[in-house]
Amino acid sequence: MISPVIVVHGGAWDIPNELVKGHLKGCREAALKGMEILKRGGKALDAVESSVNSMEDNDVFDAGVGSFLNAEGEVEMDAIIMDGGTLEFGAVAAVKNIKNPISLARAVMEKTEHVMLVGEGANKFAVKIGFKTCRTEDLIVRRELERFKEIKKKLKFETREVFTDEHLGTVGAVAMDLNGNLAAGTSTGGVPNKMPGRVGDTAIVGCGAYADNCSGAVSTTGWGESIMKVTLAKTTCMFLEEGFNAQEAAEKAVKHLEKRVGGYGGVIVVDSKGNIGLAYNTPRMAYAYIDGEGKLHLGV
Ligand code: GLY
Repeated sequence: MISPVIVVHGGAWDIPNELVKGHLKGCREAALKGMEILKRGGKALDAVESSVNSMEDNDVFDAGVGSFLNAEGEVEMDAIIMDGGTLEFGAVAAVKNIKNPISLARAVMEKTEHVMLVGEGANKFAVKIGFKTCRTEDLIVRRELERFKEIKKKLKFETREVFTDEHLGTVGAVAMDLNGNLAAGTSTGGVPNKMPGRVGDTAIVGCGAYADNCSGAVSTTGWGESIMKVTLAKTTCMFLEEGFNAQEAAEKAVKHLEKRVGGYGGVIVVDSKGNIGLAYNTPRMAYAYIDGEGKLHLGV
């Protein structure tokens, strides 16, 4: 019999001690939400969406409410969701005024003949299907407004700083359901002070997430510009296909990110047998997982 498994992450960066509790709580809640669905016989895809929604709604994380502001003080978000059974996926990039971008990504997958919609087109699609929208102010929290003002005072700001300094993290989840199907999903507000229209790794298939029942499901977090160069999620799956176990594949992928392009980030993995792996090269990565024995693990 197959045991359901879920892993979530709340971003890879230098999480300061005072924020550890909030991250662990948010990851725990998200993992439990997903597992509730899996235990009832629900699909991995539903579990992943529910876990990610929980973190998008939690302003501790850089996704949905609480997202970073771009250089113009706007919130533009990216998200992807992928079904490991069919390789169907849906993605949205640079969307505004949406509280749960991963659910819009799923609608792209299920209600259009496309796999990715960006910017204005994605927002028009949301309106067309009656997807709930919100005001920009509903996504902005005081902490991010303050950060925006501080950044604007600086003469120079480099994205690289984000992952070795005090910032927030992208969120993601991977799961295996009772039928052995895998799914992966990732959602983010991107990086602070990004140029309007900047799209990171998150919404790009094989970079921010990948799921294939033949290898595994992977969600990534970190510095998008570096993650895209090594297609981190698909590279992790490639290591699984080569016979490395879930933990080895995660470690090898992050090492490759670091060595090849000097990148920063982390990955969470569930392989096709339900084995779990995770690795990161940032000071910390917030995560939670519930293994095949039903045991909850938390970490930063
Ligand atoms: N990994 C999130 C981003 O760079 O947009």
